[in-house]
Amino acid sequence: MPDDLSMSLPALPPTEEIAALVAAKLNLEGPLLPILHELQETYGYIPENALGIMAEALNITRAEVHGVVSFYHDFRSRPAGRHVIKICRAEACQAMGGAALGAAVLERLGVEWHGTTPDGAITIEPIYCLGLCACGPAAMVDGRLIGRATFETVIEPIGERVK
Ligand code: FES
Repeated sequence: MPDDLSMSLPALPPTEEIAALVAAKLNLEGPLLPILHELQETYGYIPENALGIMAEALNITRAEVHGVVSFYHDFRSRPAGRHVIKICRAEACQAMGGAALGAAVLERLGVEWHGTTPDGAITIEPIYCLGLCACGPAAMVDGRLIGRATFETVIEPIGERVK
């Protein structure tokens, strides 16, 4: 019987499928980022089994691939929830109440940054400037920008019950 962690993770995509996706981008200049974007667009995250495939194809170490994946906040190591809330954590928004907004949302949903509620409804992610600095704190809900964000304006567009 699978443990809780394995139950929350989807089955990994077939390695042949990932290898084909990687191979299709190999002749680009600086192919790693385009490959990572393609993987995230295809699967919604960067599957664990893709790291070694990329490393071998690009003749770099798995640690180097992992370093790039973890450097960019937009790459996920597991699938997101049905809705994604991004809250700006850059300086201007932090000074305008962004820190308090982030803390309130995390506490209410009972998750950490990059976490997903147990029902899979909502993922909370930090982002570092959305270009709405004059209207901070800024957030993005399912791709829609929200200025002067509050707990209500961030949660209400989702329309799912907040536990
Ligand atoms: S600092 Fe938050 S949108 Fe620019």
